[in-house]
Amino acid sequence: MMNNIIPHTFNIQREDRKKQKGHSSFVVWFTGLSGSGKSTLANMVEKRLFDLGVHTFALDGDNVRSGLNKNLGFTREDRKENLRRIAEVAKLFVNSGNIIIASFISPLKADRDFIKEIIGEDDFIEIFVNTPLEVCEARDVKGLYKKARAGEIKNFTGIDAPYEHPDSPDIEVRTDKEDAEDAVDRIVTFLKTKLEII
Ligand code: PPS
Repeated sequence: MMNNIIPHTFNIQREDRKKQKGHSSFVVWFTGLSGSGKSTLANMVEKRLFDLGVHTFALDGDNVRSGLNKNLGFTREDRKENLRRIAEVAKLFVNSGNIIIASFISPLKADRDFIKEIIGEDDFIEIFVNTPLEVCEARDVKGLYKKARAGEIKNFTGIDAPYEHPDSPDIEVRTDKEDAEDAVDRIVTFLKTKLEII
């Protein structure tokens, strides 16, 4: 596939963008069940960083599965391809000097390892939104758990498709036990240590 592809070296490199933007760039990846609170936390974290003058961009199901990945569903293969494309897009954004706030269920360890490999370990921060299934199901904000239990949705994460907990996330949040603002404070404090604000 890569035959005859010879990359061009552009004058402006990542280091130049870092100087221009005034901070480093990396991916903040939220993983967790549907309804765990990934997007809510991601949204709050992005707002806090944005208000600090950090250049951010959020990627989530809404802006990816309705466009770039609209030909993909929720089989194992499709989820892997969904996440591969997102990781490649996130990597491009990182090279453009931005902080990417990504929120995807990303249920399998192997797929998360693959994402990390594409993006690069040093540019990847993993946040595990560890909200128990019973809590997500009780919230059922989108009514999807009810449909999955009724067999109207197949391969639903946590019901008839697996979610594998991360072994060593950079940060773990229990939204059922910790106030969202406190969790956001913890996340932003951690991110500030990585931002190398100039
Ligand atoms: S994955 O597993 O990372 O590829 O999933 P992701 O791209 O994050 O998409 C998850 C959102 O799609 C909706 N949805 C489903 N989720 C899980 N399983 C099945 N079968 C499914 N079908 C649709 C659901 O609203 C997820 O959104 P969130 O924000 O996570 O609730």
